[in-house]
Amino acid sequence: MMRRAAWPMRRAAAPRAAAAPQGRTTRAASAAAAAASSFGRLAFVGGGKMSEAAASGVVSNKLVAPNDLIVSDPNPRRRQYMGEKLGVKVTGCNVEAADGASTIVFANKPQHCPSVFSQLRGRISQDSLVVSICAGVASSQFQEGLDHNRVVRTMPNTPAMVQGGMTVWYAMPGVSEGQLLATKQLLQSFGKEEQVTHEDYLDMATALSGSGPAYFFLLMECLVDAGVHMGFPRDVADRLVRQTALGTAVYAEQAGGTHLSILRNDITSPGGTTAAALYAADRGNFRTVVSDAVWSALERSKALNDSTDLKKNQRPAP
Ligand SMILES: NC(=O)c1ccc[n+]([C@@H]2O[C@H](COP(=O)([O-])OP(=O)(O)OC[C@H]3O[C@@H](n4cnc5c(N)ncnc54)[C@H](OP(=O)(O)O)[C@@H]3O)[C@@H](O)[C@H]2O)c1
Repeated sequence: MMRRAAWPMRRAAAPRAAAAPQGRTTRAASAAAAAASSFGRLAFVGGGKMSEAAASGVVSNKLVAPNDLIVSDPNPRRRQYMGEKLGVKVTGCNVEAADGASTIVFANKPQHCPSVFSQLRGRISQDSLVVSICAGVASSQFQEGLDHNRVVRTMPNTPAMVQGGMTVWYAMPGVSEGQLLATKQLLQSFGKEEQVTHEDYLDMATALSGSGPAYFFLLMECLVDAGVHMGFPRDVADRLVRQTALGTAVYAEQAGGTHLSILRNDITSPGGTTAAALYAADRGNFRTVVSDAVWSALERSKALNDSTDLKKNQRPAP
């Protein structure tokens, strides 16, 4: 059993059947795969913020010994920071990082994928697992770019930095049962994960959970401003709102499958203050504004996918 972050992320995170929108990996399959799961040597290509979040989760949950984790990054200061903070190996050479690694996590920026692919093509063992966190880069681009079939594409989010992330992931058919379980363990080391069986869900996840923290920050910011407008000092309003957000999230999580509207109704007395606030929100088309915002993110995600399509962006030689 993996060690978990203290409250508020305290629900058990034992590997579980993925609640995919279509099709699910069964518990039996997960259990059968458990024996086959192992990490061996783990490499991260790119040592930025998300790499730090994921590698911190891996190290603190002891999925691999720090000596079996290597991070490559072109920036010497970043390498020094990662090496000192996590006690992992570091290198400036992606080829050295990938050499002998059983799982390679691509945490570089999407625009650097073409050069990373050209460095690593043909240098990754066909048995190794490739895990991408690069936003908007299709698994087929990794498959073609690296000439590799065992590819998992993920969409994490920033709360991964406090091991409270939500990562949605898709595995290509070449990924083994043991590697599916290893992926769950990897992703659960920095939050929760949801496996989907169709890659289109990755764009939707980008719009919902990937960009999601920004929506909550915006709502929190609006509430703090409203508090100031009423007369609270800003620091007091800020503390009230942060704790209300945190407590509400924990409460919702611990309420399990209880529909969110029931939780909301429970605190909406007839003719009361909350009912008045909710009426004003409805009158201002709050739900439609939120829905339109998420749809805009989805459309933008699809457009960015096209712009990162390496094939489409190939220019004929002059
Ligand atoms: N941040 C998020 O919330 C989030 C959420 C979901 C997905 N993602 C994805 O996660 C990936 C990393 O994002 P991030 O926010 O962690 O970015 P980041 O902090 O900029 O990290 C990327 C790191 O890769 C390094 N790098 C540049 N060229 C490289 C190369 N050729 N080989 C290896 N490493 C190279 C960069 O070094 P330099 O700084 O010197 O260029 C940088 O340290 C991106 O693909 C992003 O789409 C991010």
